[in-house]
Amino acid sequence: MSEILTDHDLSRANTLGLPCIAEAFAAPSRVHALQELLLQAAQQGSPVTVLGGGSNLILPERLRGLVLQPALSDWWLEEASNKVLVHAGAGVNWHALVMALAGSGLWGIENLALIPGHCGGAPIQNIGAYGVELCDVLEAVHLIHMDDAREQVLTPAECAFGYRDSIFKHELAGRVVITRLVLRLSRTPHPRLEYGDLASRTGDAPTALQVAEAVCRVRQEKLPDPARLGNAGSFFKNPFVSRDAADRLLTTYPELPHFTQSDGRIKLAAGWLIEQCGLKGWRQGHFGVHDRQALVLVHFGGGSAAELLDFAAAVAGQVVERFGVELEREPRLAG
Ligand code: EPU
Repeated sequence: MSEILTDHDLSRANTLGLPCIAEAFAAPSRVHALQELLLQAAQQGSPVTVLGGGSNLILPERLRGLVLQPALSDWWLEEASNKVLVHAGAGVNWHALVMALAGSGLWGIENLALIPGHCGGAPIQNIGAYGVELCDVLEAVHLIHMDDAREQVLTPAECAFGYRDSIFKHELAGRVVITRLVLRLSRTPHPRLEYGDLASRTGDAPTALQVAEAVCRVRQEKLPDPARLGNAGSFFKNPFVSRDAADRLLTTYPELPHFTQSDGRIKLAAGWLIEQCGLKGWRQGHFGVHDRQALVLVHFGGGSAAELLDFAAAVAGQVVERFGVELEREPRLAG
């Protein structure tokens, strides 16, 4: 059985750096220990919150019940005929895994370098950047149900992935713990450099590691380092609007960045909408809009979740007022 800590400080366990005390906390390093903890919590009727790298989560000042941070940190390769399967425990640091795999010449997740968090959190929001989403390379997700500790393996289709979306935000929200991912990578070079200026940064025929390093440089130029300035990456999702609504906006704002989706809807750039409201670099109290990427809200220290949500509502309110477009929050609320 894993050690259970009481009144455990989580302020360093969330990238926003919000103050939070967990009533009980455990970081099991074996699936069996995780199952025992879940059964015990179910018997006691104690709520369970699962914490990964804490990079897409808004924590309250106090979390009741048990906080579980899976410390399943093994990963290994399984060679198949024309692909390589990577099994990665939920507690594996995502970026470290990307760099290790890209460094060994494996292709598939190099565009997802420098995304903070653990592997277990990656399927929840279907992490994506620079033209690649996790679902493009996912083979399976292993999980445990919280109510009876049974194990299950989901196929990608069963995960119902969408843009920043999956079954783990809906039917399975708060009901399962992800324990392992299986990724499908390839040794055949397959650079995807269409997004932004990646191609000019990598040159011809880059290695997977060179692509990952170029992605790291782009991210470092635009996105704040959570170790220095609290943030949860993009705070809002890019909104989808109908063709008609997009056409109306484009009449007034012809320079509006927009991306037609396969279902006919149009994805707009939330960062651009926020910037046009004059909010880039705007600060109120302990929170602000990042001065290099308006989609990211930053925490200067000393603030609370409630204050952050008020600040975010003020930002979203201005976008609705000016453009009539609703912004949806991306990080999930815990507790
Ligand atoms: N833009 C602005 N002002 C800003 C930010 C963006 O005008 O302050 C414009 C850009 O000029 C560009 C467009 O908006 O025309 C898109 O910007 P960018 O390429 O920076 O991407 P994004 O849509 O703002 C998304 C992801 C990021 C990911 C990048 C690159 C979401 C919610 N965010 O941002 O993900 O890194 O694409 O693929 O989809 C994250 O989730 O934490 C994250 C950083």
